Amino acid sequence: MSNKSKQQLFATRLGVIAATVGSTVGLGNIWRFPYEAGVHGGGAFLIIYIFFILILGVPVLCAEFAIGRSTHSNVLGCFRMLKPHQPFWRIVGIIGVTSGVMILSFYSVIAGWTLEYFIASLKGDIAGRSTDEFHTMFGDFTVGMRPIVWTVVFLLINYCVIVRGVQKGVEKASNVLTPALMVLLIVFCINSLMMPGAAEGLKFLFKPDFSRITPAVVIGAMGQAFFSLSLGLGCMLTYASYFPDKTPLVRSATVTVGLDVMTALMAGILIFPVVFTYGFSPQEGPTLVFEVLPAIFSQLSGGWFWAPLFFLMLFLASLTSTISMSEIGIAWLTQERGMSRSKACVLVIAVAMVCGVACALSFSYWAGLKLPLVGEFNVFGFFDYTSSNVLLPLGGMLISIFAGWILDRTILRRELTHPRTLLSSLTPVIVFLLRYVSPVMILVIFIANI
Ligand code: TRP
Repeated sequence: MSNKSKQQLFATRLGVIAATVGSTVGLGNIWRFPYEAGVHGGGAFLIIYIFFILILGVPVLCAEFAIGRSTHSNVLGCFRMLKPHQPFWRIVGIIGVTSGVMILSFYSVIAGWTLEYFIASLKGDIAGRSTDEFHTMFGDFTVGMRPIVWTVVFLLINYCVIVRGVQKGVEKASNVLTPALMVLLIVFCINSLMMPGAAEGLKFLFKPDFSRITPAVVIGAMGQAFFSLSLGLGCMLTYASYFPDKTPLVRSATVTVGLDVMTALMAGILIFPVVFTYGFSPQEGPTLVFEVLPAIFSQLSGGWFWAPLFFLMLFLASLTSTISMSEIGIAWLTQERGMSRSKACVLVIAVAMVCGVACALSFSYWAGLKLPLVGEFNVFGFFDYTSSNVLLPLGGMLISIFAGWILDRTILRRELTHPRTLLSSLTPVIVFLLRYVSPVMILVIFIANI
């Protein structure tokens, strides 16, 4: 059943963890989490986000791992192999490939911003400015052509990595990057905790105000849980198809989730004290982190050194995430459509480039352009909202129904149970969540929102 012989595999246990953590840790934690938490009331958002990570994130991650590893196949191929007579399930693959490219497009815009700030901080443009100036600095940057150029540059860099193949590119890069980013974050968190606004910032982030919980907060937190764990579109499934059979899946899932949540929390601890110290608005939205980070570095001793280093790490963390997004489409094109890897890479990047430029324009020339039918969104907002808050949970719901009800129970148990790890004893809990909890919960949230 498996097509392992044709399939490249990650070489080492560390490679498996580094690549999955590399995919999950990225702008989702450091850019998207603080801005979503800011918009949705801090503590109220955090608590629901963590609830969803545990109740939806962990089981769906295990399901993606099990499906991917048991077939060693891509997001369309795996359903064909597991249930050849139920073509319906290939819809998960179609959602996956489509939303993978959508996310790659808008994500590359933000990753492009990290490049701009990397260069600006190298040139010393960040030092000695006031809060208002950081606001203006960002505004000046986004109205010009530079965001578009950086989006294109970022996608080209991404192309150069992915075209070299799975093991060589992804694994090597992730082994070093993710731990380094975490260490840097810890250093900066300590710095933020010493600021005058630290208490207020922490209170905002950690003290839940239940009166602020609305359907929008719930759906935002669910979308963020999926986005942050790279779940719902078969990204983790595709990576798991490169896992060796001896990888303990539940343990890998637990480590991935733990590190991912920790990074998001660190980003919050880093950002909110500064927001309150410098009088930024937590409700700022997608631009929040890019106005707040320069403020941190401008007052930090040795900021000229830390700022470029941090933006470089952020850029690299984005890269390990976009590599994984690109891989969904590439695995499908090469394995199902018989395309060469280099052609598949060109195709995926080309589509993402066209859509990415449209997203980049949403912060300048097309800022006022609201899409017909979805009235409140511009192109960027539409891509972000639809993929994260609609397509990912929808994909996640279908994946949990498939794993819980359709997939042969022996396959699921065989994949999740590992003789030498204690965490395998969680398997029955995961199966229960997949069958009865996650699909129902996602459906109820969808219906409540409509
Ligand atoms: N999880 C990544 C982050 O937090 C982004 C990401 C990578 C992603 N692959 C994905 C999001 C697949 C959704 C689906 O930055």
